[in-house]
Amino acid sequence: MILLCGALASAALLDAPRAQQTGSQTTSNVADSLGLMPIPARMQFRDGRLAVTPRFSLAIAGHRDPLLERGVARFVAHLSLLTGMQIASTAESSTKATLLVEANASGNATPQLGEDESYTLDVDPSGARLAAPNSLGILHGLQTFLQLVEVTPDGFSLPAVHIEDRPRFPWRGLMIDVSRHFIPVEDIKRNLDGMEAVKLNVFHWHLSDDQGFRIESKTYPKLHELGSDGLYYTQEDVHDVIEYARERGIRVVPEFDIPGHSTSWFVGYPELSSTSGTHAIERRWGVFDPAMDPTREETYKFLEKFLAEMTRLFPDAYFHIGGDEVNGKQWESSPTIQAFMKAHGLMTSLELQQYFNARVEKIVEKNHKIMIGWDEILAPGLPENTVIQSWRGQDSLAAAARLGYRGILSNGYYLDLMWPAAQHYSVDPLGAGAANLSPDQAARILGGEACLWTEYVTHENVDSRIWPRTAAIAERLWSPQWVQDVPSMYERLAREDWRLQIFGLEHRSKLTLRLETLAGPGGVDSLRVLADAVEPVKGYSREHAAAAAGIEPTSADPLNRLVDIVPPESETARKFGEEVDALIAGGFADTAGESRVRAQMELWKANDTHLEPVLAASFLLKELSPLSADLAELGKTGLEALDAIDRGEQPQPEQRQQWTAQIAEAEKPQADLLLMVAPPIQKLVNASGSAHPRNEAARKQ
Ligand code: ACM
Repeated sequence: MILLCGALASAALLDAPRAQQTGSQTTSNVADSLGLMPIPARMQFRDGRLAVTPRFSLAIAGHRDPLLERGVARFVAHLSLLTGMQIASTAESSTKATLLVEANASGNATPQLGEDESYTLDVDPSGARLAAPNSLGILHGLQTFLQLVEVTPDGFSLPAVHIEDRPRFPWRGLMIDVSRHFIPVEDIKRNLDGMEAVKLNVFHWHLSDDQGFRIESKTYPKLHELGSDGLYYTQEDVHDVIEYARERGIRVVPEFDIPGHSTSWFVGYPELSSTSGTHAIERRWGVFDPAMDPTREETYKFLEKFLAEMTRLFPDAYFHIGGDEVNGKQWESSPTIQAFMKAHGLMTSLELQQYFNARVEKIVEKNHKIMIGWDEILAPGLPENTVIQSWRGQDSLAAAARLGYRGILSNGYYLDLMWPAAQHYSVDPLGAGAANLSPDQAARILGGEACLWTEYVTHENVDSRIWPRTAAIAERLWSPQWVQDVPSMYERLAREDWRLQIFGLEHRSKLTLRLETLAGPGGVDSLRVLADAVEPVKGYSREHAAAAAGIEPTSADPLNRLVDIVPPESETARKFGEEVDALIAGGFADTAGESRVRAQMELWKANDTHLEPVLAASFLLKELSPLSADLAELGKTGLEALDAIDRGEQPQPEQRQQWTAQIAEAEKPQADLLLMVAPPIQKLVNASGSAHPRNEAARKQ
């Protein structure tokens, strides 16, 4: 089997993987049968396989440093976890090693933007060799090796392959907001493990916001003492996380969001704010008025000392100052601030914020850091090396690039919006508004970051909000642009999902535990049937529904309802939808496919009877009763439509209208959840209204 799969990204090779076929297999379905995620820049499959046995051994040739040695030790531990075998690690000699690892030089002591991350991996039946210019490339190559290991009838093995790989973008991040809900160190570390597995290389730590100031400051201790409810990272914790990330080739970029989103600072230091009086930690969600006073010199003196402390703590060259969503209300209503603006010729609150940003930038620069901020900071006069993080849209990212600024994309990668992986996957940092940039302008787009805002996230569900969807974003940021096949992505995502769980991520295990906690061992099976068919509502619907009901959610609310527990994307619903699509496309000729669809709908139809007593017994589950009844109705409707199709009948339009109305009811959000299986049932109802080869055949009988 020889299959060529593209060369290093170049326009001429965009369609190469799909065009090339050998026998009945295309390269993309060979890649699908492997668990590679992200897909490498270049792959060439060869004949044969390399067995992974308990005698597997590894040797390091060439350069050796702690980064590489620790990476190798983690690799061996992970290979043991994957295979369930105690893998012996050290080879007697390079020639006898199953895997030879060879770096030409060390990487930087801490990873840096733009560092060479490339590697070459050769796997032959007799052994494998991983080579890279530095240890960072080796770390990435070791992950690829792990992803290639498969179970076969003859044991664990990898296909023979030649891989030359490097990332498309140098900035591939994950932002976690630890202010709205505190996320403990062990959860951060676990997610850094996940990031390493999919070759993400920037952890953006959103450390302060209205709802919490989450880091110890020795210079201004009232920041964390009064602004965090005691939930903050000590400086020792911070060193620990930075070191943990460094070992995994991950940069840590801290964010202190100023001058807005800063209520928690004012609890201890009210003099920083634009109003007089005292302040309390914000408990609600939303955009609030409090903002720093940009007109007082004392504000800058404070920031001088504070940023000197924080820039020393974080080794990365980039330092994030936030800058988003300043509503300017406090500035507009303050006579002294208005007088200052007049005296300085500042016409609007935006201009005042630009004045503030310019002052802050000087402080950041004095501390030898490069400033990064959300796209609101983009304004004339901003130093050219500033990086813009775009949350408002690809157009603003493109605008920044045209003006000469570097940027990263986060619009389209907000994990808290509960989008399916495919929706994030379709967003390209060089797509939409950025598609017409000149090559020089396009080169300023450094990559992107998945963002997790934590209004509805705690340490309980943080993993399930990040994984596995973030692996799809990681692929978008690493792999060549031609890697866009959605079914292939889902195929490989399912494997990565399982692997992440083996390596310690808790997105699946927590779900099972929580369902058991909610339903008790006797009820968990029927609750699972419902849980598997639903998804949390999308976008900001949860906030809107609360507002419509006159409820003001706060950080004190427990997050223990089904909506907080189920994954953002229902695998059951997606697969059911695919089965229904295939059945319809095939004219209902696939009897095995039809049996699976039927069995699934029978399960839903019967489930409510089992689940109802379980729901009635719990104050947390009661709200699910209408959903469970609707799921049963959906199953029944789908079965009736399918029965009609099988009989070769076309149901009366009134009947179909009645089904459609019932499905429309079931599609409405309930308990902040959506029954994701409703749209495919509607497709079955629609299909029952037209003739199919199957109903034709039935009619002729
Ligand atoms: C943001 O979402 N306000 C950065």
